[in-house]
Amino acid sequence: MLRSERAGGKTLEIRHLNTSFFTMKGEARVVNDVSLDVYPGRITGIVGESGCGKSMTARSVMGLVKYPGKVVGGEILLGGVDMAALSEKERCALRGSEISMIFQEPMTSLNPLMKVGRQVEETIRIHEKVTRAEARERTEAMFTQVGISDAGQRMECYPHQLSGGLRQRVMIAMAMILKPKLLIADEPTTALDVTVEAQILRLMRSLCDSGTSILLISHNLGVIAQVCDYVYVMYAGRVVEQADTFTLFDHPVHPYTKGLLKAASSIRSDAARLDTIPGVVPDLLHLPPGCSFSPRCEQCMEQCVKEVPDMTFAGAQDGPAGLSAHLVRCFLAGVPPKGDGI
Ligand SMILES: Nc1ncnc2c1ncn2[C@@H]1O[C@H](COP(=O)(O)OP(=O)(O)O)[C@@H](O)[C@H]1O
Ligand SMILES: [Mg+2]
Repeated sequence: MLRSERAGGKTLEIRHLNTSFFTMKGEARVVNDVSLDVYPGRITGIVGESGCGKSMTARSVMGLVKYPGKVVGGEILLGGVDMAALSEKERCALRGSEISMIFQEPMTSLNPLMKVGRQVEETIRIHEKVTRAEARERTEAMFTQVGISDAGQRMECYPHQLSGGLRQRVMIAMAMILKPKLLIADEPTTALDVTVEAQILRLMRSLCDSGTSILLISHNLGVIAQVCDYVYVMYAGRVVEQADTFTLFDHPVHPYTKGLLKAASSIRSDAARLDTIPGVVPDLLHLPPGCSFSPRCEQCMEQCVKEVPDMTFAGAQDGPAGLSAHLVRCFLAGVPPKGDGI
């Protein structure tokens, strides 16, 4: 039996999430009706070009959207509790113990003036009544678990004395120390070289195998392909396609997903001409009335510039192994939606 079937339910359910920035020029809908599930014991990916709303989706879940941004609608259910309806104090209590996030650049999240071991110990002591010695022991064990050799010695280092890979491991240790149910990793390997990236991704897999559900955000399809079980493709604030990793890579339907795959394969094959998707992500203040991708889409039809397509089933209505089905937001999919599509 698969892990997700054993555990049952979902770790995180996002339903019709809307987050906007209210700027002088108007409302920018950075997260636009996003629905997303994270399953227990699985790594769920979000992929898309820069500026598509991946980080804002994560920040909305964490309650970390800063002014002039605001979550304006939807539900964020963590183990059945609606995060969006909680007060900041209640949300604060869940951060760390139930849900943790690691960011792309660990230097911005670590205190440069405090030894890294101490920083992780403090995280424990904020949430739990433990002695200094206990906190230290647990920190050392966690450092070892995330692959930091000579853990005791490394705990005495300041962030600037560690390599990028080690700093990211410290961040992961800090995020994991309270054994959260959900870890959100936003571009955790983008600042690292490929060897260290592979190590960090292996670590993600082993954390997931030991019971933490992971939401992994990356602009890099290669990273997503290596470790994710299920993938959401975002474009201009919306989810445009979602499927288990094998289906998404073998049978992509949305022209945007196909474009991302083509661009990624041209990087891998070291082709002389680097394939990118022509055009740019639209200005979120002035989204086109129809499909947001229509101005860049080679297969654009009349309907595409007039209406926003709904999410429809691209194939079977059940996904493999208890995961969601393959859904796509494109008129080309041709299969009419059953129910409300999600
Ligand atoms: N302070 C802000 N004011 C207005 N728009 C913002 C602000 N911060 C981010 N955005 C916009 O939100 C959109 C989504 O950003 P983000 O979620 O960071 O994208 P991604 O993580 O996919 O690269 C971007 O188009 C960005 O320009
Ligand atoms: Mg981002």
